[in-house]
Amino acid sequence: MIKVLFVCLGNICRSPMAEFVLKQMVAEKGLADNFEIDSAATEGYNEMCHAGIHHGTRQMLKSMHIPFEEHYSRRIRPHDYAYFDYILAMDDSNIEDIQSLVGMDTEHKIYRLLDFTDHPRNIKDPWYTGNFDRTYEDSVEGCRALLEKIKQEYDL
Ligand code: 4NP
Repeated sequence: MIKVLFVCLGNICRSPMAEFVLKQMVAEKGLADNFEIDSAATEGYNEMCHAGIHHGTRQMLKSMHIPFEEHYSRRIRPHDYAYFDYILAMDDSNIEDIQSLVGMDTEHKIYRLLDFTDHPRNIKDPWYTGNFDRTYEDSVEGCRALLEKIKQEYDL
């Protein structure tokens, strides 16, 4: 089982978008049984108020016919670092925050999602930009590149 955890600040906009985009991609390729895919936050405030997926992310997934189930924000824990094989942050500040919560990346598991693309960069936060189309496009680009890397690494 290949275990992938997407991480953003609030776990209600970007990381659930990437989670369900990748779930759909692996399902389409008949690879779903090989994967466990989840998402988490670096902050705890949305966990405290049991926040579900942001309506902007929901609308985007619905309009692209990407299935999703309910997901409630939760904060990444040290146990997640040991458990997951890939921990994909959305931006540089997520990486700093993840390391302050789980420790140094001694096993080289932590990357930005777009680091595997031809144009490594941060995924801007639609909580501030309001641009969920862009978040979706970046998620697709990042997940495609991530899946190629994983397929090569695991000979899938
Ligand atoms: P996300 O966006 O990190 O992509 O889920 C945010 C969601 C919530 C907040 C900030 C960013 N917030 O301040 O509650």
